[in-house]
Amino acid sequence: MTDAELRELLELTDPAEQKTLFASAYAEKLRHTGPNVSLRGLIEISNICRKNCFYCGIRSGNRKLKRYRVGKEEIVASALWAYRHHYGSVVLQSGETVSEEFTAFIESAVREIMERSEGKLGITLCCGEQESRVYERWRKAGARRYLLRIETSDPEFYGKLHPADHNFQARVNCLRRLRELDYQVGSGVMIGLPGQTTDQLVRDLRFFEESDLDMIGMGPYIPHEDTPLGRGIEMTQEYRNGQLGKGLRMIACTRLLLKDVNIAATTALQALADDGRERGLLAGANVIMPNVTDLSYRRRYQLYADKPNLDENSEESRDDLIRRIHSIGETILWDQHGDSRHYFNRKQKEQKT
Ligand code: 5AD
Ligand code: SF4
Repeated sequence: MTDAELRELLELTDPAEQKTLFASAYAEKLRHTGPNVSLRGLIEISNICRKNCFYCGIRSGNRKLKRYRVGKEEIVASALWAYRHHYGSVVLQSGETVSEEFTAFIESAVREIMERSEGKLGITLCCGEQESRVYERWRKAGARRYLLRIETSDPEFYGKLHPADHNFQARVNCLRRLRELDYQVGSGVMIGLPGQTTDQLVRDLRFFEESDLDMIGMGPYIPHEDTPLGRGIEMTQEYRNGQLGKGLRMIACTRLLLKDVNIAATTALQALADDGRERGLLAGANVIMPNVTDLSYRRRYQLYADKPNLDENSEESRDDLIRRIHSIGETILWDQHGDSRHYFNRKQKEQKT
């Protein structure tokens, strides 16, 4: 596909044309993963973050927020809950902390989850930019996948979304190191940011392609009122629909372009429409990350407004999710890691050369 074609697809407004786009992306997904959904239990382990991104509700500058870190025993308990309920894998997500204490904490949590699930639960980490040796320790402890969103692939635009000391190239370097350390590597962007152009989204797609990523996690931008970027943006129904449409079209284009990667239907889609994640699946996504964090913490991990499932416990969300996924004719891959096909395909290629 050419850049011009991608641009045109990303800008579709006609409902019938969009339907055709989603249907062809869905057909592409069927070729690679079948009508299946992989689940990852998401554990939001800490809202403490040293970064101050202009769009994010848990940025360090948000003094209104009470900060927490879930204890190790509780993290392990949530992971084992996910394991017993046949989720094949978990994601440990956290704001960015760089310290030996944090490194050792994550390392020991990963190790303990591995031990107590007899090595059967897949573990993905999403703990920001770290030194190589930190990624290495976590990989050795048993983490197999890492998510680090680039947020936007345009360095200049990145500079507008972040304070001056947040470094685009450092993030790109982290992605490269993670790959060298044999993680399955995921990245992604926010879609529909104020000031973002369609050409930038096309470049984001090219960035995914060139980085040869294994997993894509991206979602529509949703304003948060306690942030510099979100203040004063009114969340009208029209705005919500617009953001959701952009997010879905970006998922569809990613599937058409990258084919065998894992693509998440993220919670941000659900924040914009009750059936947002299902619509993500039907536009080409194949992964859902149900929140399994203890309810007492959920309100304090709000990256954006209207975060869903604040009051629904893991048991309830699981039942609800099963019903929703079945209603669109898809099957949940219970007890499987749901590894990225792309990762194995690229490993095979690497061995041949
Ligand atoms: N809207 C949507 N996504 C957001 N994120 C942070 N703030 C927002 C927001 N206001 C995303 C970023 C980050 C991920 C954990 O959440 O892409 O990488
Ligand atoms: Fe921290 Fe991530 Fe939020 Fe930035 S987007 S403030 S790094 S949690």
